[in-house]
Amino acid sequence: MMPPRPDAAEPTPRWPRWRRRLAGSRALVTGASSGVGRAVALELARRGVRVLATGRRGERLAALADEAASLAGGPLVYEAGDITSSDFRRRLVDAATRQLGGLDLVVAAAGSGAIGRFRDASPDTLARIMDVDFTAQAELVRVTLPALRAGSDPVIVLVGSILGYHPLPLHAEYCAAKAAVRSLAGTLRMELANDGVGVLLASLGPTESEFWNHLLTGHRPAWSRGRAMSASRTARIIVRAMAWRRREVLPGWRAKGFAFGARLFPRLFDRVMMRRLRRSPPVS
Ligand SMILES: NC(=O)c1ccc[n+]([C@@H]2O[C@H](COP(=O)([O-])OP(=O)(O)OC[C@H]3O[C@@H](n4cnc5c(N)ncnc54)[C@H](OP(=O)(O)O)[C@@H]3O)[C@@H](O)[C@H]2O)c1
Repeated sequence: MMPPRPDAAEPTPRWPRWRRRLAGSRALVTGASSGVGRAVALELARRGVRVLATGRRGERLAALADEAASLAGGPLVYEAGDITSSDFRRRLVDAATRQLGGLDLVVAAAGSGAIGRFRDASPDTLARIMDVDFTAQAELVRVTLPALRAGSDPVIVLVGSILGYHPLPLHAEYCAAKAAVRSLAGTLRMELANDGVGVLLASLGPTESEFWNHLLTGHRPAWSRGRAMSASRTARIIVRAMAWRRREVLPGWRAKGFAFGARLFPRLFDRVMMRRLRRSPPVS
């Protein structure tokens, strides 16, 4: 059992410090068995944060705990399970209370994708993607809020996507889930401000990870095979944004360019994508 953070009982200052002090905080990171969640968990541990990491693959989490131990930063413990289960989400809060003494940071990075035309997809694909990419994040916030409100300078990080700004063909379910995440972040930011709980939306562009290896349906479209940012660089940008109390972060120029361009030229974006779709039809 780890000792509680020394200043955990201190109230959040009325005028928060300019920068959030991360060292000594207690964090829950979902999707930590690979990709962005894994890199965020390591980056937090490197900065002296005590991390509870989660994902379904326990052997990956055990390897992550070993790697974190070699960093001589904050210790990393883990709990394996399915984030779409409400029982498991409650278990995570119990584990955080038991093993970390509470919670100050929650990073919701678990997610998965599906590719294909909406008309050909099954209702099950929509239900699964909404469950993993949206409902599990939203319900994780609900179940962790009491612990966060009792924590020190707390922040919630929702990992979204640039596709939450503007949808693409063949990604209907995923884009809808990420748009919902973006909307939820906006609501929570206002509702939780008086409780002193910060909300950061990280809208990622193409990122190196195992995302495309674990699609629920379909294959990666040829036109999405451009250069991607590394998960470790993405994680450093996200953690820096947590420290600087940012509301939203779009890591890298490709992500920023997409969100900015889609807002300014939505019809042009659609036309380009429709042409790409005609030239490279989806693999079913
Ligand atoms: N890669 C990109 O280009 C990109 C772009 C925009 C946004 N994103 C978002 O970034 C986040 C991280 O994805 P990634 O790119 O790092 O992909 P990834 O390497 O496939 O990681 C996904 C993580 O989510 C976990 N996960 C999936 N389903 C789960 C479930 N039912 N219960 C518990 N954990 C589950 C996986 O762990 P287990 O398999 O061990 O359960 C894994 O740790 C996602 O929200 C994704 O939508 C990624």
